Amino acid sequence: MITLVDDAEIAFDDIGAGLPVVFLHAFPLNRTMWEPQIGALVAECRCIPVDFRGFGESAASPPFTMDRYADDVAAVLDSLQIERAVVVGLSMGGYAAFAMLRRHRERIRALVLADTRAPADTPEVVARRRSLIETARTQGGTAVANLQIAGLMGKSTRDKRPDVYDAMHRMMAQAPVEGIVGALEAMITRPDSTPLLPTIDIPTLVIAGDEDVITPPKEARKLSDAIDGSRLEVLRHAGHLSNVERPAAFNTVVSEFLGSLLYN
Ligand code: MLT
Repeated sequence: MITLVDDAEIAFDDIGAGLPVVFLHAFPLNRTMWEPQIGALVAECRCIPVDFRGFGESAASPPFTMDRYADDVAAVLDSLQIERAVVVGLSMGGYAAFAMLRRHRERIRALVLADTRAPADTPEVVARRRSLIETARTQGGTAVANLQIAGLMGKSTRDKRPDVYDAMHRMMAQAPVEGIVGALEAMITRPDSTPLLPTIDIPTLVIAGDEDVITPPKEARKLSDAIDGSRLEVLRHAGHLSNVERPAAFNTVVSEFLGSLLYN
């Protein structure tokens, strides 16, 4: 499905019934990275994976900022007449979830923060992103995918699941250069979300892969410690893309969390 936000097409799916759950993807992927979750969770909730502008089937229309991503998600909820949804964000999707907390807090029923971090980029990370922007502009999306893929997958997946590795590489390589550059700029300019954490007063689940080298479990522990009452789940043999690397384990913890919301 498509909704128009200031003339930009924002693509999403709306599958299933019941509690609305929005899924926000990682960089430089798209909403189809959530297929293993949608297939399993559609029986128990209304699944709404969204493509950030510049990825998947969403238009590569500026401006590219985390705030704009958050506003686009709120516009998708408006178009579906959904007041509040559970927001599941993985990595960059988590950064957008923090932007939603800043701008559209009343739309969030509960949060799942997977393989993500609250602090803004360090100068070293900014320099790495600037170099990746140059790579994207001069060599295209496949070159970016080649550079990114190894860090996104845990060792267990790299060693034992070439199918998953290849599928994620293909998905990343399809990302348009405008979307890649826009997302890198959006990540560089995003604010520190650490001060937001103690203000989170909705049910929150933090998920980490124990082989994640981009946001290691100790980062997830910090995140969880700073959010009062949140629950932390560390998935074994999963790297940064824990939802595709250990889908059954990821789905189990999310499903239990969604079930717990009935009593919250
Ligand atoms: C992601 O998976 O979305 C990226 O690793 C986020 C980042 O580069 O900070």
